Amino acid sequence: MLPYFPFGNEFDHRMGTSAVRTDESLVEVDDEYVADIELKRNLLAQNHDYYFRAQPNTEIAQWDVLERLLTEAAQQYPAFFSLNKTGTRWHWINHKLDEDYRFTVGDLASLPLAPLDWAGQQVQEDLIILSADDTAALVAGQLCFPNGWCLDDKFGQTFLGIHHPAPSMVQPTLQAAHKLLQRIPLHRPVWRASWNFKITDQLDMSTKYSAEYNDTLARIAPTLTPDTIGDQLFIRIERQTFTRLPKSGAVLFGIHTYQNSLQNEAENPERAQQMLGTLRTTPRQMLTYKAIAPFEDALIDFLERNI
Ligand code: HEM
Repeated sequence: MLPYFPFGNEFDHRMGTSAVRTDESLVEVDDEYVADIELKRNLLAQNHDYYFRAQPNTEIAQWDVLERLLTEAAQQYPAFFSLNKTGTRWHWINHKLDEDYRFTVGDLASLPLAPLDWAGQQVQEDLIILSADDTAALVAGQLCFPNGWCLDDKFGQTFLGIHHPAPSMVQPTLQAAHKLLQRIPLHRPVWRASWNFKITDQLDMSTKYSAEYNDTLARIAPTLTPDTIGDQLFIRIERQTFTRLPKSGAVLFGIHTYQNSLQNEAENPERAQQMLGTLRTTPRQMLTYKAIAPFEDALIDFLERNI
């Protein structure tokens, strides 16, 4: 079952942000951990610049991210990760991957990769750094599992510029989100969840796959029926966290993507009802933008049978 389920009685126009509680973490490890890290590393090995980019002035923010994520990961998952700190000399053991690293925080030469690139290869989350100034521009990122975008599309753009293609009806929400990002206090991260339905569970849905996805969707969607759609559709949920970083003042945007087949989730009638509630009230413009419109009728019929 998906650990986050942002569906309800009706489509929610609001940002949907909540505080990350002190017993929660920016890093989450699920059953896909080893497979996800292997996939990430393969993607980076094949086409590094497509999946990782950083402006030269982001070093302090990158160390901020590394320090924060490693500390939280070791606290939250002591069976998986150990971290020993002697001043700036850190010793990190990743028991799940059987890896052992010693490095000096702040010393680039002590790590094999840029700090953000290295830290991103220890956790399942995609990691984006937003500038400390009011524009919240995308200044660095390791992005292997995006849903329909990529660093090349958005690098250097401001928060509002990045969201330019989003439907006009969510513009007030984005204005509020922009203000929120400018004001996130230190040590008070927030999170939200976003949702979509896809005809694939391919994690890397970077822009380079968009044309192929749309072609397949156009071909497959008319063949989907309430009898078959349960196994052919996947629910894609992003747990998104936003954290002010202490030394740089930048904001870390972390994205953990969770997926499950529609069938598995709809077997729970309460969940089927919640998906129905949201889908029936989602504005047309949004259903089209999310590329749900081509299979919307079969999806709704299927859910009605499951409640
Ligand atoms: C509280 C913060 C945020 C809110 C409320 C928010 C909200 C939204 C909404 C409503 C959409 C339209 C599609 C959908 O509903 O799934 C969207 C799309 C998107 N968001 Fe955000 N977002 C936030 C933070 C961010 C950040 C920090 C980034 C990256 C720097 C980002 C990147 C994107 C991208 C790339 C898209 C797709 C845009 C496109 O079609 O090209 N979002 N966001």
